[in-house]
Amino acid sequence: MKYDLKNFTIDEKIKLLSGKTYWTTGDADGKVRELWLCDGPHGLRKRVNDATVPATAMPCLVNLANSWDRESVRLSAQTIADDCIENDVDVLLAPGVNIKRTPLCGRNYEYFSEDPFLAGELAIQFINGAQDSGVGTSLKHYCMNNRDFERLFQSNEADERTMREIYLKPFEMAVKNSKPTTVMCAYNLVNGILASENKWILTDILRDDWGFEGLVVSDWSAVKNAYKSLIAGVDLEMPSNQPSYQVLKDALDKGLITEELIDLHAQRVLDLIEKCDKNKESRKAKFTPSQRHENAVKVAGEGIVLLKNDGILPIKSGEIMVTGMEVNKPAIGAFGSAMVTSSYKLKNLCDVLNEQGVQANFKEYIIHREERSSIFAGGAYDSAFETDAVIICVKGPDEGEGGDRVRIKLHDYQEDFILNMAKANPNVVVCVYAGCAIDMSAWIDKVKGVIFVGLAGEGVHEALAPIIAGNLCPSGKLSETFPLCVEDTPSGTKLGNGYVDFYEEGLFVGYRYYDRFSKPVLFPFGFGLSYANFTYSNLKVEKQSETDYIVSYDITNNSDIDAKEISQIYVRDVLARVVRPYKELKGFSKDLIKAGETKRVSVKLDKSAFAFYSIPLKDWHVESGNFEIMVGASSQDIRLSAKIKIQMPDHTQSSFHYVAYPDYNLTKFGWKKGEVPDEPYKPFE
Ligand code: BGC
Repeated sequence: MKYDLKNFTIDEKIKLLSGKTYWTTGDADGKVRELWLCDGPHGLRKRVNDATVPATAMPCLVNLANSWDRESVRLSAQTIADDCIENDVDVLLAPGVNIKRTPLCGRNYEYFSEDPFLAGELAIQFINGAQDSGVGTSLKHYCMNNRDFERLFQSNEADERTMREIYLKPFEMAVKNSKPTTVMCAYNLVNGILASENKWILTDILRDDWGFEGLVVSDWSAVKNAYKSLIAGVDLEMPSNQPSYQVLKDALDKGLITEELIDLHAQRVLDLIEKCDKNKESRKAKFTPSQRHENAVKVAGEGIVLLKNDGILPIKSGEIMVTGMEVNKPAIGAFGSAMVTSSYKLKNLCDVLNEQGVQANFKEYIIHREERSSIFAGGAYDSAFETDAVIICVKGPDEGEGGDRVRIKLHDYQEDFILNMAKANPNVVVCVYAGCAIDMSAWIDKVKGVIFVGLAGEGVHEALAPIIAGNLCPSGKLSETFPLCVEDTPSGTKLGNGYVDFYEEGLFVGYRYYDRFSKPVLFPFGFGLSYANFTYSNLKVEKQSETDYIVSYDITNNSDIDAKEISQIYVRDVLARVVRPYKELKGFSKDLIKAGETKRVSVKLDKSAFAFYSIPLKDWHVESGNFEIMVGASSQDIRLSAKIKIQMPDHTQSSFHYVAYPDYNLTKFGWKKGEVPDEPYKPFE
């Protein structure tokens, strides 16, 4: 060990427990090095003298998630790590794995998914990518920070099972499988106690249950009382906060905390410094700045999602009109701590389309509310009438940190513009630049093609143009459901009352809700089109142990272009004794399948694919019985399915009551009187 606590005075130890500056850790009066902690997650955001240093703007997490591509996520983190290395940054404040509970959350673009398994799997890759390059990470915002409205004041409340299975799950997966250097505690309250003072989540669950050995850092100014946070498990308060020193000293003098407690936390800060020092000795950037830009383009190309295509795309011939504010100045990220300042001059979509062999003309119509029916916009409709097809590039409603979206529809004037353009020309393609689901119901039936561009970073147009031109086959799929309207979402337009936001939908978040209540949606979770078409066949589920299986199947690319396909494994507990979602994602694979080729895909399932969190057992629990394994091209496009029966040791299973209730009417479930059913009653179906 490089640093021995014995060599630090109590004052120095206390000073280690909060930052020295806004972005650096304490140096114990010059005894240790200050570490730089900077945002994340879409690129480096290092602030020096009130300015942000330029860095590669990678696609936002929404795009990484829509790629479903472990390698792209890793590559993105490695690329960002290079910028950190060259700018002497020790810890990148990323990734965020909060569940997209509602499409209204202003920071959804910084999070992966509505599904905990997808979010957890991709977070593992992000963390490994950065940490293998010698840059620390911060898994955030722990936990239940699922919207930004009143994030400093509101208590987000859910039952423990919902928390464990949905909201904590991606944190658990990342902590156990990729050992993030730090975990950042959230601003909000969790079941009535500030996350930063919540011993249950910070110590009992994070350290005792999951074995986290790194450092807990507060979100910036999330600590309200330094000694209460220390007791709960926050090791490092950020940013610098002078009064906390006195708060801790007074608490020590009054016997509210002990020197041992201070030592425990100060040691963790020293351990972090030691780890970062060691990293610094050997780390070296892997990619040149131009390779980093190429990486940004490559990753963006994986996460753009083709949502609708009535034969219009790809556009290989004809004269195309390209219009909309995003053509020249595309939204590549959103407002807040995740905003990257890239020095790359963003490409005009039209220019890249022309490079890709498409005859495209840029028509710059600035469509504001006032102009929607003006002669000015009228000019746009005239031009549209005279051309073979129209591409409209449009940005979604405002989103960013510190507040929520107020709508998930485009603005009326944008919708009017699309509708009028569709009257002028039958061949309209809409490209949507947004960080989260959009309600497209007002216009989707009137256009021929829709591409969800997301917030794709500085390489956006170099990735989008080849997709439009057919030189790159689209391969992204949605990592969140697109509902028909915001009112249809599980938590609707409810905001909480400023004190409490009660997660009354429980486990039924995202597709778990739409599935369970048979609600139609605009586009389901896991959906995305390709220029190729794939068939699935020959499903095999091989048992390795009672709760370990290898699921394998063939995917054939029936078209004449090479293309990637994302296949998804869902598991259904056929008859459960607790309320369970109809099916849950438990595996996925993204594979390049050459034209005409058949590829065998294989995915492992382990105990976590079958278990639910049992509150009485205080543990994950697998019930004996039937499970269905479904392989789908989306959550609503199941192509193959197989049945398995799991038989757990009898002593692990709860007994049945049917003997005690002889009159219990089991016949309606297909059992004959007197016959012992092998499955319990399923409450929902
Ligand atoms: C955000 C964090 C961010 C931190 C530092 C906070 O406002 O919630 O995500 O890492 O600021 O910029």
